[in-house]
Order: sequence, then structure tokens, then C-alpha cells
Amino acid sequence: MLPRSIILQALAGHVPDRTPVWMMRQAGRYLPEYRELRAKAGDFLSLCYNPDYATEVTLQPIRRFGFDAAILFSDILVVPHALGMKLAFETGEGPRLDPVGSLSDLKGLRETLDPSRTSPVFEAVAKIRANLPVETALLGFCGAPWTVATYMIAGRGTPDQAPARIASLMDPAFFDALIDRLVEVSADYLVGQLEAGADAVQIFDSWSGVLDPESFVRWTIRPIARLVRLVRTKRPGARIIAFPKGATLAGLIRLVEETGVDAVGLDWTAERKAVRLALGGKVALQGNLDPLALIAGGAGLDAAIDALMADLRGAAHIFNLGHGIRPETPIAHVEQMLRRVRGY
Ligand code: CP3
Repeated sequence: MLPRSIILQALAGHVPDRTPVWMMRQAGRYLPEYRELRAKAGDFLSLCYNPDYATEVTLQPIRRFGFDAAILFSDILVVPHALGMKLAFETGEGPRLDPVGSLSDLKGLRETLDPSRTSPVFEAVAKIRANLPVETALLGFCGAPWTVATYMIAGRGTPDQAPARIASLMDPAFFDALIDRLVEVSADYLVGQLEAGADAVQIFDSWSGVLDPESFVRWTIRPIARLVRLVRTKRPGARIIAFPKGATLAGLIRLVEETGVDAVGLDWTAERKAVRLALGGKVALQGNLDPLALIAGGAGLDAAIDALMADLRGAAHIFNLGHGIRPETPIAHVEQMLRRVRGY
């Protein structure tokens, strides 16, 4: 029996009757209804930790566009927050955390996630699932251990995550311990979301592209492999998407072989045809429209979509962007994109 959701069909390796579509960061600042609720909530974290607000914001893009998946509205930095780190989002400046830099700093953090932080998230998942049509999949998520570690070490976003790369070279004992902690707590976090009603989960490795090939194996592939294994000991058959942004073709192939994920997310630089040839029969392929094509609109957007659909034809393809939608994207261009994709 095929699942009702065409995203879950694709994750099970079937090529659905029509191409499922959702967008990373689909709930967010490009939507006036998001900006309105965000202003009412006061700040971003209050949106994340209020189950009613998080539910509402998650559902906004589903109501407006009818995407085939909803993604839980939250943030990857909820995990370090729930380990006891201070976290703030300064408007227009991104996240700020008190950095961790040594084994003794790590000892000062919790061993497990603070339930007072995670329970509103799980409550939101249950509420969202109860308010979604059966054919719309609900995706939970977490950051990959490497990507979350880069923010914990730098305390903020940086252009190339140099602080974490230096720490991994200078203090491997600390770095290994930090990654191990993140693997364990992220597994608990994903299991909690799946138990609360998420149909599948995505692991965001937004910073895997700054790693050399050996470090990619050590810090992206191995931790994700352990995370997937841990999640599936508690939730056998859990459907899992990995998004290793910036991965090479060789990196993607090895990641699929060694982690057992059901889908890989491709960023807009991926060599799509080669990826389809190497992995098309093995996993679902998610992606990978350049978010800037969605800002451009017009004939350029149509041409980019046509090229993408042609390159991944025959694969279990989940249409998405190659990274999150940017706040300045016109809503009319999202509508144009959906008409085009749904016309295939
Ligand atoms: O995709 C979705 O719609 C679900 C919600 C979601 C958010 N962040 C909401 C958000 C998801 C899945 C994330 C993941 C996330 N968060 C990642 C991985 C994906 C990626 O984009 O690479 C990362 C690296 C973060 C950390 C983070 N959160 C940063 C660096 C920033 C600041 C930059 C920015 O876009 O503002 C955020 C803030 C954030 N997360 C916003 C939203 C809607 C903007 C907050 C606001 O309303 O001001």
C-alpha cells in the first residue's frame, strides 16, 4: 500500500504521479502573515517556543500554497539552547550564543535536552499534525552535529566557520566529545518529533561544504550515520532526509552508502545529471532550484525549473530550493514556480 502523501511515496523509493514540492524556510519573512505574527510575538524564539504560534506559522504556507509538506517551525539552535546555552536572535544580525571552546565548557552543559525547551516543540508537532490534511506530510528536523557545533563554537554565524575548523584541529578530544553529545541529543530530539507525529525528518548540514574530503567523512558522514542509526533503533523505518549543503558528488555518494538516509537534499550547485545517474535508483533526490532564480522570476525562473525537471526526470524527485527562500522573494514568483512544477 502506497502512503497517501506523495512525499512519503518518494521517500519510499516510488516515483509519484506528480512531483511533490515544498520549500526550505517556507514559513518566514517573505510572507506578510508571518511578519505580522512575528511582530505580535515580539521575537523569533517566542514564536518557536509557543506551540500555538509555531503551529500557526507552520500552517501559513500550506494554506496559501498547498505545499506537499509542512516543515515544523523552529530552529536548529533550539538544541544548544536546550543543552543550557544562552541563545538570542538579534534582529537583522542572526543568532548569538555564549561560545563553548573546551572540554570544561562542555562539562558545564547538560547531558540531555531540557524538557522545558523540547516539550513545547513536541506539543507544536502534535498540534500541526492534527491540523494538516492527511496527504500533507509533516517534516521535523534538526541541525547536523557538525553544523550545530560550528555555531556553538563561534557563538554566531561566520563566513567559513573557521573557529570550528580550527577547534577540530587543535583540540580533537573536545571536538569529538562535542560531536558525540550532539549525536546523542539530536537522536532524542528527532525521536521526540517522530513520536509526536512528524512523518519524516530532515537533517540540515548547512556547513558541510567548508570541509575538506577527509573532514567531510569524519564530521559530516560519520555523525549523521550514527544519528540515523540511533533514531532507527527507537523508530525502525524512520524516514530521514539529509541536506549536506555544498557536498561534492563523491561526498554525496559516500554519504548515501554510509548513512542509509532515504533522500539527499541537493544545493543549487549540485551536478544534477551525475547525481541522478549515481543515486537516482537508491534514494529520493530533493532540490535544487537556485533561490536567486526565484527572486529573478520571469523567463529565467521558468527555464531554471525546466532544466531541473529534465535533469531529474525518472528519479524519485522532491522539488525544493537549493537552500532557504530569501526574505526579499516576491510571492508572485512562488506562485509562478508552483504553476510550472505542477504542470509537469
Ligand atoms: O524551513 C522552515 O520554514 C522551518 C523553520 C526553520 C528556520 N530555521 C526558521 C528561521 C528551519 C528549518 C531553520 C533551520 C536553520 N536555522 C538552519 C539550517 C538551514 C539553513 O538555512 O542553512 C540554520 C543554519 C539556522 C540558524 C539560523 N536561524 C540563522 C543563521 C538565522 C539568522 C539568519 C536568518 O535567516 O535570519 C536564523 C533565524 C531564522 N530561522 C529565521 C527563521 C524564519 C528568521 C528569524 C526572524 O524571523 O527574524
